[in-house]
Amino acid sequence: MEILVQLILPPPVCVCVCVCVCVCVCVCVCVCVCVCVCVCVCVCFQGDVAHALGVCHRVSLINQVVSWVEVIGPRSCPAVDVSDILLGGVPTRVFRPIGGQKLKRGVVYFHGGGWALASGRMRSYDLLSRKMAEDLDAVIMSVDYRLAPEVVFPGQYEDAMAASRAFLSAGVRERYGLDPQRLCVSGDSAGGNLAAAVAQELALDSSLEVRFKAQALVYPVLQALDFHTASYQQNHDVPILYRPVMARFWLQYLGADPALEPLLLANNHSSLDQAGLPAAHRSKLDWTALLPAGRRKHYRPVVRATGSPGVVDAVPALTDVRAAPLLAERGVLARTPRRAYVMTCEFDVLRDDGLMYARRLRDAGVEVTGDHYEDGFHGCMVFAYPPVSSSVGRRSMDNYIRWLDQNL
Ligand SMILES: *[C@@H]1O[C@H](CO)[C@@H](O)[C@H](O)[C@H]1NC(C)=O
Repeated sequence: MEILVQLILPPPVCVCVCVCVCVCVCVCVCVCVCVCVCVCVCVCFQGDVAHALGVCHRVSLINQVVSWVEVIGPRSCPAVDVSDILLGGVPTRVFRPIGGQKLKRGVVYFHGGGWALASGRMRSYDLLSRKMAEDLDAVIMSVDYRLAPEVVFPGQYEDAMAASRAFLSAGVRERYGLDPQRLCVSGDSAGGNLAAAVAQELALDSSLEVRFKAQALVYPVLQALDFHTASYQQNHDVPILYRPVMARFWLQYLGADPALEPLLLANNHSSLDQAGLPAAHRSKLDWTALLPAGRRKHYRPVVRATGSPGVVDAVPALTDVRAAPLLAERGVLARTPRRAYVMTCEFDVLRDDGLMYARRLRDAGVEVTGDHYEDGFHGCMVFAYPPVSSSVGRRSMDNYIRWLDQNL
């Protein structure tokens, strides 16, 4: 055998071929990496230049690029009919299973992206909704609420409310064959924030004939008063959601001055000399009391005696429950849907927002399923299938859908 190989390919030729193949592979990998880096740098840099020139906001530019690459048309498949409609005046993609039960379960879904990015029509969210519709034999309505910076709080919240009210209305229920007893509000990240806020607001409306049976929150963002929770400290530099990025998303959503970022990151806005911040609010996010020791680890709270007084008065939305659902009163939480699902990820600055909310809901008498991923990172559930896939992504998506199947 050896002789045969040597006869066909004398050793020097062998070495040469190997070297050539190696060089080629290396060059290809290098070119690929370079192109990727260049595209990223260009998008960010152009964003900065355009921003500096006042042409457009960086987030808008990123959104533009994402929509060229990622947004897809409403393509039906044999199992699911897909269409784009207006739900309470808000653009929404509807995924409707073909065949199956006559009366169907329904989920109104709000996508994530810091109230500023993404769309329910993006490939990843389209795929999630499609899978939910097919696996659950349920109608999924994925809402494209307006985004920052063009629209700020309470715009996104109002869109989410308008779409949810329409979703529960007799007209929409009849048209789509929705089972009034089996409706859910859900969302991930900033969409989880909107879903939680909607669930609270609708819980207080006694005029509604039909209510949500469940709320399902996927790594939701729920408060902007403490940027030093144990999870913010632990995961401050973990991709994809870095601590300063979350502070920037908040300021942008609340329509506040972006120059407040260092102040927020210092927790100067929740200092003890902040007159607009009563002790009752602080207790709702006191993670030393609300988190189990295993999550608090060795981290210490950062509570400043003196900070930057007047910030809460200047940005009142910081303590508005419609923006920060973690601040709700216990009596309000007690009236939210009977069942709640809260997904949290270990490697996520928002982990403790979710854990604290789950604990407060449970304390208020809600049946809560806490679904924690020790190997999870922010956004993992939409990174379940190629081109960006992960095992925790698939597991979390499967468990989320299974929870809906068993609880809705
Ligand atoms: C936070 O507040 C302290 C005390 O008032 C002040 O010295 C410090 O400069 C503030 N930090 C920021 C980033 O505003």
